[in-house]
Amino acid sequence: MSKQPIGIFDSGIGGTSIFKEINALLPNENCIYLADSINAPYGNKSSFDILRLSIKNTELLLSKGCKLIVVACNTATTNAISYLRANYKIPFIGIEPAIKPAALNTKTKTVGILATKGTLSSQLFHKTSDLYARGIKVVEQVGEGIVPLIESGKLQSNEMKELLAVYLEPMLKENIDYLVLGCTHYPYLIPMLTQMLPEHVSIIDSGLAVAKQTKAILLQHNLLNKNTQPPSIKLFTNGNLDILNAIINSEFETSYLDF
Ligand code: DGL
Repeated sequence: MSKQPIGIFDSGIGGTSIFKEINALLPNENCIYLADSINAPYGNKSSFDILRLSIKNTELLLSKGCKLIVVACNTATTNAISYLRANYKIPFIGIEPAIKPAALNTKTKTVGILATKGTLSSQLFHKTSDLYARGIKVVEQVGEGIVPLIESGKLQSNEMKELLAVYLEPMLKENIDYLVLGCTHYPYLIPMLTQMLPEHVSIIDSGLAVAKQTKAILLQHNLLNKNTQPPSIKLFTNGNLDILNAIINSEFETSYLDF
């Protein structure tokens, strides 16, 4: 069982930011990644649709023999992970906006969060926020339009810069000193955001924490792959293969799959 692959899925290519962290921390692990780009963005869909798509991705990864699934999408985690955990036998790792470290470390007592509508309106996000950010002002901003731009290969574009400027303005007015990236597509914006933000604003994302949690859960279930041969890594998209290849610098095997 330990030689079986880790399954990872996202609404599109953004979750490759999580896949890269997992591959760096667990280089022996075989991985299968699903980019459900044809259905991106998930962020504006109903909770029911997000659940339905998460089940579809899970079933496909299970049919490929995955031993554990990483839901590399904040929107799918916050809307579907309880159902997935309750209905499938294998372990699931999810990703949630890193409100806790931001709230613990802020000096201005104000943090910003950029995420999808689906994440910010979810019960799980509100629960986490209420639990860890008591007494802290959380400036929430829906990143409307960002995922479609990344999915259409316009990561580094003027359109993106203009959109980010609009979203950052209210946060900077409120004097945030932490910006939490609550969507797995957004780590790819870090170079642009770093240029746009004042120096005292730190950016936090949850990628490394997810990779560490994946390792801990594999260890706990005795599922860590101790093989030292090069792993089998396969990334599938039901969208544009060139755009997937561009975001991973063509470093891994990719193919188109109709799912
Ligand atoms: N990567 C997804 C997330 O982390 C993207 C959301 C979307 O498809 O709208 O939330």
